[in-house]
Parts: sequence; structure tokens; C-alpha cells
Amino acid sequence: MCGIVGYIGANEIKSTLIEGLRDLEYRGYDSAGIAILEDNSIKSFKAVGKLINLEKRTKEFQSKGFGLGIGHTRWATHGKPTELNAHPHLGKFSYVVHNGIIENYQELKQSLQSNGIKFLSQTDTEVIVHLFEKNYKEFNDPMIAFEKTVQSLKGAYAILLISKVDPQKIYFAKSGSPMIVGTNKNNEIFFGSSDAVLIGKANEVIYLEDEEYGYASSEGIKLFKDQKEIGLNKKPLVGDKLSAQKGGYRFFMEKEIYEQSEVVVDTILGRVLDDKIKFDELDISFLDDIEDIKICACGTSYHAGLSGTYLFERVAKIRCDIEIASEFRYKEPLLNKNTLFIVITQSGETADTLEALKMAKRAGLKTLAICNVDNSSIVRLADYTLLTRAGIEKGVASTKAFATQSMVLWMLALYIASHKNTISKELLKSEIEAIRHIPSVLVVNDKLHEKIKRLSKRYLHGHGFFFIGRDIFFPLALEGALKLKEISYLHAEGYPAGEMKHGPIALADSELFTIALMPKTLLYDKIKSNVEELSARDATILAISPIEFELADDFIKTNYSNHPMSEFFEMMVITQLLALEISVRLDNDVDMPRNLAKSVTVE
Ligand code: F6R
Repeated sequence: MCGIVGYIGANEIKSTLIEGLRDLEYRGYDSAGIAILEDNSIKSFKAVGKLINLEKRTKEFQSKGFGLGIGHTRWATHGKPTELNAHPHLGKFSYVVHNGIIENYQELKQSLQSNGIKFLSQTDTEVIVHLFEKNYKEFNDPMIAFEKTVQSLKGAYAILLISKVDPQKIYFAKSGSPMIVGTNKNNEIFFGSSDAVLIGKANEVIYLEDEEYGYASSEGIKLFKDQKEIGLNKKPLVGDKLSAQKGGYRFFMEKEIYEQSEVVVDTILGRVLDDKIKFDELDISFLDDIEDIKICACGTSYHAGLSGTYLFERVAKIRCDIEIASEFRYKEPLLNKNTLFIVITQSGETADTLEALKMAKRAGLKTLAICNVDNSSIVRLADYTLLTRAGIEKGVASTKAFATQSMVLWMLALYIASHKNTISKELLKSEIEAIRHIPSVLVVNDKLHEKIKRLSKRYLHGHGFFFIGRDIFFPLALEGALKLKEISYLHAEGYPAGEMKHGPIALADSELFTIALMPKTLLYDKIKSNVEELSARDATILAISPIEFELADDFIKTNYSNHPMSEFFEMMVITQLLALEISVRLDNDVDMPRNLAKSVTVE
């Protein structure tokens, strides 16, 4: 959801900002803009659409020598994706970029307008710059003006502001939206709404906390909270730029599908011993009084969590339910102190999941985050975290995050089962063997990929897709349908196979495509009957199974396997590739599908 960059230093500022925005473009790509302050004058450029348009527009411009700048890539919340609504927003002598939502912008705007201030955009962000300038006129001190501005804002924000009245500084503030400041030995300072921007540039970073604000100049960074200066909590930044590049694949999504086999090795590394599951991050006594588990998440992470609920109850014999975070927040849930509250999130910044976690903490529950991004807001808030170790995920349609989340949940179910003595030594050993087999299950077979490429041409029309499965294959069906709709823009639903006859089967005809997940190891006969019922109504069936199925119009044969999770991961790859190839044939933008953004930091 939007991306922010900032830079102070002697490097060419335009290209430094655009390079940073490129790392963030997957987060929002409705429009982009930059503002550069050098020699006491500000140059600003904006363009609608992808970053390439901004690059074209700024082709002739180059900064000279030391200076500073801010940049933004937008995912529209207030106001259409037009040039006027693109950031940076300007007042008379200052520019601002902002990520998040200013909830009280209407009242602030009305009060500013009644003072004769004219607005150019429909955004909530523009109030920030006008408020700053109004406060500056009143107090004649940029820091006081910025502090007063921040104090007036309600909602979520990460802000960078530059002004001709203080041309050596970038002012910053954070509350509810991520913001990271990085430094290096060349006396450069970088800002980013994700550390992806800073990798390879900064060697020390400060992950700003909520309500912190301050300014940076070539003389250093000053940080404040509640009007008092506070110390800088610098951390070394590790990471490697290469992992954030496409490496020969057509799309990040494709690269990330192919990477799953390797990243899952990282997920299980050091955690799966011959006879037990070990999480150094957890203190086992943490589980002592736990009576049940509640999981909260959004989107793909919710689907991983839903498959987890089956595993927790079946293997660990512990009651478990799951809620979509945006629903949980407002339903006034009754919470029990002995519930373990698990949030699952790739980014660690999803606003609804973060709020759900805060609610659980306020109610005194023990909390655990399953997350991919260390130091993210959710990781910092939860009592404990299990990192999924998927590496940077750039494709907006999540793939390897789902694979690693599912793996962590499986390991956690076994870990809790051992703790509660609900699993025999023999069964635990065979589960561990099954886990160790998964990286090879996830290797993408070239022939299979070719087959899916060919087959995809038959699935470019029709009036809809039903992905159906039972048990843990139901969440996988939901996830398969979500992948397809996100990048193909075709209507797709995931459904529990046994539910079809309770209504949706009315839709069945030859133009209804059914993607049937038919594992051998779990309820094969049951799902077979469900698919037969659809076939009898002339639905077009694409069956994915290790067992030949004569009623299938198309058939993708999977390997014979003796563990449902093995079949789960193999079918997961197939549904991901199917969505990818359909999207490619429809000529859609696979990595940056319309209307979406990678990290949803607004409600
Ligand atoms: C789908 C997708 C989204 C996210 C959802 C939650 O491909 O990526 O549905 O899963 O927005 O995001 P996180 O996991 O970052 O909390």
C-alpha cells in the first residue's frame, strides 16, 4: 500500500529516489512522484500509472551535488489515480509524501479552507502540507510547526516533508504505517516504507515506532516522542539485493513459485530434528495454560491459517478457530485469557491484522505472530514470533509466503502435539520424514509447467471457476481461486466440495470450469462423488489427482504420495502455475495486477 522513499546525500538524487521507488512499486502503482530540494529551490515531478512514466518525465533532469529529496508510489485511497492526486503534495513552499489514512482530514480541510487555503487534490494527504505551512506562519519555527501538525493528525501515517524554510532537512513522522531510516559511512541518509529500499545502501537502520517523529540532515538524525528527544535505536541491516531481483524469470511471481522448494528448506532449518520439532524462538512454558487457539489473518494468510485449524485439531487435539481480521475487529468478540492468539501475515504490516493483535493483547491473551518480515510492526508487538523465512516476496499474488506459512503451521501443530502428548513417537517421526520430503515435492517439474501452459488456453473464458476440495484441500481451493481472480480478473470461487449440491451446483454447465483437487490420501471417494455430480450436469472438469479420473475433461496427474501435506504442496504449485499461465495468456500484468497492492496498511 503506497511506498515512500527519501534521501539526503551527494549522489544523484533523482535516480536514487527512482531506484528506491522501483523496489516499492509492487506496493502501489497508480501514480508516482518525487520532489527534490537543492540550492533552495524545489523541483517536483509526477506521473500517472507505472513508475516508467515518471522515469520518462524526468529523463532530462539531473541533480547536481549535495541535496535531498522525497518520493512516493501510490495506491489510491482518497481520490482517483490522477496527477493532481499523486504525491508529493505541495503547499506554497513545502512538499509532503504520506502513506496511510488521515481519518480527520475532512475537519482539518474545512478549517484550513475557512482560512482561505485552496486545495488542489482530493486526497487526505494534502491537509498535512497546508497545516504545516499554517503552523509555520504562526510559530515561525519549522520544527514546532511540524510537531503541531503531527499532533493534529488522527489515523495512520508515515510522512516525509521538505520545505524551503528549512532546506537542509527532511522531517518525518510515523504512526501506524511503517517507516525506516537508514544510514551509511558515506554520510548518506535513506528513508523507506520497507527495508527493501535500504538493502545494499544503508548498513544501519532505525525502525521507527508509532508516535515517533523528527528530522534528518547531513548532521544526523534527531528523534522525538511526546516532545522529548529520544535516543536512536540503530540496528545493522542485513540482506541481499539479488534476492529481490527477477533472476531470469519472466515475473517475480514465477520466480517465487520456483523458489518455494529452496525457501521451505530455510523454513524448516534447525527446527526439524530427527525426533522432534524445535522452535528456539518459543519458550515452551508459554503453552502451559493454553486451552485453545484462535487464528486471525487476511487473504492468503487466512487461507494458510484455515488449513492450520484442521491440523491443530487433528494432530494437536486442541480446539482451534480462525477469523478474518477485518471481521474480528468489530464483532465484539468474547475472548478467553487461556486462548493462544495467532496472527499470520506475510508483511507484518496489514492494518486489520495489526489491530486484531492489539485487541488480543489488550484482552490479556498470549500472542504469537507467524510472519515473513522481521522487525515489522506485528513482529514487534506480538509476544512471540515464528518467522517464515520466505525471503522478500514481490509478486503481489502471494505464493511462497503461503507455502512457508503452511509449513510453519504444520510444524507448530506437531510441536504443540508433542507438548500435549497427543502424538506417538512413531507418528511424530513419520511426520518429520514427510516434512523433510516437502522441498523435493515443491521442485517445479518442467514438463508439468509446459503442460499447464498448453492447457491454460482452454480456460480463458467461461462464466466462472469453482475450485473445490475437502478438508485441508478446501483452504487450498480458496487459495487457488484467489490466485486466479487476482491476476486473471476471471471470476473464481473456492468451495468445499461437499457444499456444491447445497446451491452452487445450479450454476453447472459446460462453461463452468471446475478445478477439482482430488488427493488420494484424504477423502478420495467423497470428493470423487462430488465431482461426478458436477460432471453429470455437464460442468467442465479439470481434475488434479494421482488417480486417473475418466470423467475429467482435462487431467493433471500428480505423484503417488502417502501424506496429505505432500499432496497439498504439490497441488498448491499446480494451482499457482495455472493462475500464472492464464494471466500471461490474457496479457495481464502478473506482478502488478490492477487495483491491488502488496501490503495493505489501511483498513
Ligand atoms: C493475495 C495476497 C493477500 C494477502 C493479504 C494479507 O495474494 O497477497 O490476500 O495475503 O493482503 O497480507 P499479509 O499476509 O501481509 O498480512
